[in-house]
Amino acid sequence: MEQQQKTGKNGKILRHLMTPLDFSVDELNKLFDLAEDIKNNPDKYAEVCKRKKLATCFYEPSTRTRLSFETAMLNLGGQVIGFSDAKSSSASKGESVSDTIRVISCFADICAMRHPKEGAPMVAAERSRIPVINAGDGGHQHPTQTLTDMMTIRSLKGKLSGFTIGICGDLKFGRTVHSLVNAMLRYPDNKYIFISPEELRIPSYLREKLNEMHVEFEEVERLEESLPKLDLLYMTRVQRERFFNEEDYVRLKDFYVLNKEKMALAGPDMLVLHPLPRVNEISVDVDDDPRAVYFEQVQFGVYVRMALIMTLLGLAE
Ligand code: NCD
Repeated sequence: MEQQQKTGKNGKILRHLMTPLDFSVDELNKLFDLAEDIKNNPDKYAEVCKRKKLATCFYEPSTRTRLSFETAMLNLGGQVIGFSDAKSSSASKGESVSDTIRVISCFADICAMRHPKEGAPMVAAERSRIPVINAGDGGHQHPTQTLTDMMTIRSLKGKLSGFTIGICGDLKFGRTVHSLVNAMLRYPDNKYIFISPEELRIPSYLREKLNEMHVEFEEVERLEESLPKLDLLYMTRVQRERFFNEEDYVRLKDFYVLNKEKMALAGPDMLVLHPLPRVNEISVDVDDDPRAVYFEQVQFGVYVRMALIMTLLGLAE
């Protein structure tokens, strides 16, 4: 997205994060380097955001993302305000996100917003005097989960290219999938195997983009056959809240269950990632496998959000 050069209330150029493509590859590399430094030297950053406030405006349920943002800001010595339920905010009285963000701009220095409507954080960003971070908008994008996923891969594999990446589950409604594929397409020599039931295949715009870019990809239904070929397996939950009827959800929810037997088909270095929450798609007997890195991934999310907050507040230099 082309962002207009506006000045924020801190007098610095106002930048938002709506999709992972809002950052160039170069900027992403800097962000990941900073996140690595934060991971290795947390004390150095303990007061960087002193007297700064993060507002978390969550119109949709969340555990990880909201608490990860809050932890990130607290780790930087800042403070946190916000709401975690649309019902407890003025949205329940009919306030628009544009008005809400104008109000929040008077209180906080940066805002992380999650909304069930696609594009809502972007509408807010247009009216905001503080950086707005899209913390998930409907089935659309989830850029900070993607930063988390990429930092996990980069940190554990040392690179972001040259992989065969399996993405399994709800590829239609899963916003983490859409953001991750969009972002990883900028790194060369990755092949994709999209593993989903027919009804939950990747959206056609993504398929068109892959074709236009001449990226190697397959769309398959069976996880077992793909497992031996993968360097990375990104599992996702079937997104119940985005289904139009419960019957379809019930039919598809247990389509994939990664378990110990299936893990035996995978190579010794394949990493299993998952944005969480997990429902049934990964059996708990996989959790102790050293290739299962989904809880480690949560920890990387805090470092990368710390780096992001610093970057958007102009405190990263
Ligand atoms: C994801 C989300 O909210 O899109 N979770 C997260 O933020 N870690 C994935 C999901 O809900 O399935």
